[in-house]
Amino acid sequence: MTAQRIDGKSLAAQCRAELAERVAALRARGRPPALAVVLVGDDPASQIYVRNKISACAQAGIESQHHRFDADLRESELLARIHALNRDDSVHGILVQLPLPAHIHAQRVIEAISPRKDVDGFHVANAGALLVGQPGFRPCTPLGCMRMLEHIGLRDLRGRHAVVVGRSNIVGKPMALMLLERNATVTIAHSGTPDLAQTCRQADVLVAAVGRPRIIGAGMIKPGAAVIDVGINRLPDGSLCGDVDFEAASEVAAWITPVPGGVGPMTIAMLLSNTVQACEQV
Ligand code: GUN
Repeated sequence: MTAQRIDGKSLAAQCRAELAERVAALRARGRPPALAVVLVGDDPASQIYVRNKISACAQAGIESQHHRFDADLRESELLARIHALNRDDSVHGILVQLPLPAHIHAQRVIEAISPRKDVDGFHVANAGALLVGQPGFRPCTPLGCMRMLEHIGLRDLRGRHAVVVGRSNIVGKPMALMLLERNATVTIAHSGTPDLAQTCRQADVLVAAVGRPRIIGAGMIKPGAAVIDVGINRLPDGSLCGDVDFEAASEVAAWITPVPGGVGPMTIAMLLSNTVQACEQV
């Protein structure tokens, strides 16, 4: 079998085109949606992610503010900036790029963001809303993965087994809950799961979010599975690769996302979508 690629780049472009009308309507009412992006320190990967988010806003007609701080910023100063952004009615979404420097308590900073402006969906109020099936902002990466599954006809996952490899608060755990919402049978595994290969081979839908280059090989994939690769790993030669061995896995899976050009663009499209939603809900 040669898997079909799920083209995140073109699906994200489609999502952004759908958003354009809502953005235009908000702008016509004199309320342009606006996102504040906060970056602390000079982590090169974070700088690229933030630049991509800001340029995506510009292309979508969404206003953006870039708040950059040195790595030695005091936590109290960062919290004060967040409180000021909460009070600013012209800002609808606030995103603090992670990871933060070690001396800053990341969850404390996230909890300082107003849940109504938490377009990352990381605040406990939004995480809790997902857990109990209430409306709220959903984390962008898992939301983008769900849109990709819908795109290939996997909307209702009743009777299907989904395996999520990775247990982070920002991808693995919310991903598992969203798959459960769609009636999948869900297993959360991680790099320390005994016989990870056998667990993965049960998966009709396999989501890899481990952060280890090509940890998922062809022998870990059920023939005909849909494979969603959230990993973005930089190899010593500077190139990017996912958590899945793309070439080998393509021989076994029915559907697979590439890296780059898969989940990454969808994450950004969902961030824009959450920002527009935040503006509409004011
Ligand atoms: N760092 C890696 N992924 C993300 C994300 O989705 N949001 C934020 N704020 N930081 C990240």
